[in-house]
Amino acid sequence: MNTLSATPHDEQARAILRGNDRGGYTVPTSGLYPYQWNWDSAFAAWGFATFDTRRAWSEMETLFTGQWSNGMVPHILFHKPDPGYFPGPDVWAGTGPVHSSGISQPPVAASFARRIYDMDPEAGRAAVKALFPKLFAWHKWFMTWRLDQGAACITHPWEAGRDNAPDWDSAMASIDPVGVGDYKRRDTSHVDPAMRPTKYDYDRYIWLVQLGRRLKWDEAALLEQNPFRVADPTMTFILLRAQRDLAYLGRAIGEDTGEIEKDILVLEAGAETLWNPSIKSYDSRNVRSGEWAGCVSNASFLNWYAGIDRPEMAEQYDRISSICRYPVPSYDPASDRFDAKRYWRGPTWGIVNALIGLGLDECGHKDRAAALRLATRDLIAKHGFAEYFDPHTGDAAGGGSFTWTAAIWLAWASPTMGTA
Ligand code: SER
Repeated sequence: MNTLSATPHDEQARAILRGNDRGGYTVPTSGLYPYQWNWDSAFAAWGFATFDTRRAWSEMETLFTGQWSNGMVPHILFHKPDPGYFPGPDVWAGTGPVHSSGISQPPVAASFARRIYDMDPEAGRAAVKALFPKLFAWHKWFMTWRLDQGAACITHPWEAGRDNAPDWDSAMASIDPVGVGDYKRRDTSHVDPAMRPTKYDYDRYIWLVQLGRRLKWDEAALLEQNPFRVADPTMTFILLRAQRDLAYLGRAIGEDTGEIEKDILVLEAGAETLWNPSIKSYDSRNVRSGEWAGCVSNASFLNWYAGIDRPEMAEQYDRISSICRYPVPSYDPASDRFDAKRYWRGPTWGIVNALIGLGLDECGHKDRAAALRLATRDLIAKHGFAEYFDPHTGDAAGGGSFTWTAAIWLAWASPTMGTA
């Protein structure tokens, strides 16, 4: 499918995917994240699809072996024990068919399934037929349990994938992590603690896991009792896009997509409830208190990925792109809460760039899309396949040899994916 010849970076990226392959699933990086993560896996499938379509589909199939009977697809599947990660399966006590966490993650899978299917419809038809009802049930779980005024909510910071984003600061402050007890973090033995969430954050992350476990991950009980419930642009825009792509796949295999079309209308209205006029940006909303987070994050710019154009977002995008060398930072560098290396409070993430870039391109912002792709290419080529990067200096941060950074290189950022 690639007409241009492979670059050394393509070779490196493929080697990272192969090296992180544990047989049917890919770990995000060895050591720091030794299990199957939900959205990481979907990105991995997109990357694999550039050189091994069968392996791409098997990544998705393995992810859905962990689907719960209520439709939820967990954010981590603990296929094999690994003492190097905390909190592991015994802390979560997920109730599905595979040892797992009890929360989900942004549902990018349907959108990558569509991309992989489009690369080779004949080879993908059987896989799409098998996946369609599973994707439908997962999306339905979000629609049933996670909507607030049509916007999709998270019930744990890890669910958005943007663990320590400033978006959750007010909701996190509402938690008193009483009784959380002693625990030993493992992440800070793999990565510089200055690049990771703080103990304040971890106490609340673990307290929320303990709450879910105590309630046996019963969504109705959690809806009543969980103090953390935030309507979030990551989930809302990604789910909206995923529903459109699922409808596309459904039509391709002759399924009735009427219900999905109705859900799309609900999410479109919900997305507009995330518009914060006081900062002129899409923002997160604390459902329990009604407060805005007041955050222009990289998730704010997923509006285009969800097919929503707004002139104010282009202005925000240009402002932010002009104050850092490697956009898109996970948080506004002009804010005093910005922290260039601390995970989701400042660093640039290649995977979010890829989603923003696809959206910009589809919404006709061709120049911005091309510039973002070139900047991301330059960033990875110079600083490696890191988990995330300092948006000012480009310094690599977090884990190295990272699956999803390699995947978006192959599927989007590499020059072999077409000229930019
Ligand atoms: N990102 C979380 C971690 O750092 C879990 O999803 O462990």
